Amino acid sequence: MNEKVSGVAIDPGDIFTWPIITEEDEEAVLEVLRRGAMSARDVTLQFEEEYARWQGNKYALAFNNGTSALQTAMWAVGVRAGDEVISLSVTYWATILPCLSLGATPVFAEVDPDTLTLDPDDIEHRITGRTKAIVAQHNYGHPSDMDSIIAIAKKHDLKVIEDVAHAQGSLYKGKKLGTFGDVSGISLMSQKSLMAGEGGMLTTDDKDIYEHAVAWGHYARFKRDLVDNENLKPYAGLPLGGYKYRMHQLSSAVGRVQLKHYDERCVEVRKAMNLFWDLMEGIPGMKAHRPPEDSKSTMGGWYNSVGLYRPEELGGLSITAYTNALLEAGVPVNPGINRPLHLHPLFHDCDIYGHGKPTVVAFQEQEKPDVPSLPVSEAIHGRAMRVPNFKKFYPEIIEQYVQAFRKVSDNYRILLKNDPGNPPGFGKW
Ligand SMILES: Cc1ncc(COP(=O)(O)O)c(C=O)c1O
Repeated sequence: MNEKVSGVAIDPGDIFTWPIITEEDEEAVLEVLRRGAMSARDVTLQFEEEYARWQGNKYALAFNNGTSALQTAMWAVGVRAGDEVISLSVTYWATILPCLSLGATPVFAEVDPDTLTLDPDDIEHRITGRTKAIVAQHNYGHPSDMDSIIAIAKKHDLKVIEDVAHAQGSLYKGKKLGTFGDVSGISLMSQKSLMAGEGGMLTTDDKDIYEHAVAWGHYARFKRDLVDNENLKPYAGLPLGGYKYRMHQLSSAVGRVQLKHYDERCVEVRKAMNLFWDLMEGIPGMKAHRPPEDSKSTMGGWYNSVGLYRPEELGGLSITAYTNALLEAGVPVNPGINRPLHLHPLFHDCDIYGHGKPTVVAFQEQEKPDVPSLPVSEAIHGRAMRVPNFKKFYPEIIEQYVQAFRKVSDNYRILLKNDPGNPPGFGKW
């Protein structure tokens, strides 16, 4: 039998097209542009109000990107020099890296191999007297185990920050993510499920956190008479962080239109991706990355959909050989996911601010950081991969891609003969 599987023949059309931009987005942008209102606040305020209502929070504050929203969230909940912040290691930089700029130390914990989110069983033994917060990032749209994370945080008097960059609109037990922690930071950059071009949002129900967030990088809105917190009042009008983080109004305009259509578009994405995984059921080598059907938890817009690769079901076939065969068949896949951050030198020895020792321990007594061993995170690159991101419910096309997966799995013994294995350095930055 030929090593190649027969390719995907039907034209996928717009099944992968995202974001969906229409004249409505264009008109909204032009309206701001023609008014010269790019740095004004009116559209942004409307967007914030709509976003807060949609997600189910009291306050929403718009940012120029998700990274700045997350850094602000950390400062607003009280992360300061010498503190520690716990997060998963398999995530994007912005989930945790901004804590270095506050003088805090990231403490990395394991991911759950099925949800790819923070493993609650690996948190408690990492908590010290310096721990201030836990960041739960809902990786690739999958909700973190918020019940367990909140229970641990309550027990140890810690703050919970949700990073909702991948999971706008995902439900956890029937309620939107971003409403469980003390504060959440959201990315709205153009590849995200919900996007505004470039942008971010911070949401919270806590007035004091909101006030701190405004004070950090939104000086034009940091007014003495709007702030209850007496410690903040003397600095009204100044950006306490030294940052200017407001959202560009061209983004606010796009964000409003995208939000208006988001739920309805997600219904179609959900139908498409659930059909894909239903059809994939029973094909050896792949397992769905989605919550159980009866859990009332959902994957929102299925950001950068991921599948769980199980090489043991295919005689140990490497993810490299598996994805190469799929790529040859015309299936858009990518081996691996975000790499574990705890392995990167940035978190070991890089002296960013000139403290004369690694920044990660700049305000700690020790000279070198403790680098944890996280075997699940370190092996995750060989066990998770990007799968096709279906945005439209076209069953015939989706079935065709599933056929290609099935044929690759059927051919695994042949593929094993020429398996190059995973390349050196695979899974490392
Ligand atoms: C998990 C996660 N958090 C935060 C961010 C940062 O968002 P932004 O790119 O808008 O700064 C990203 C990526 O963009 C992300 O993937």
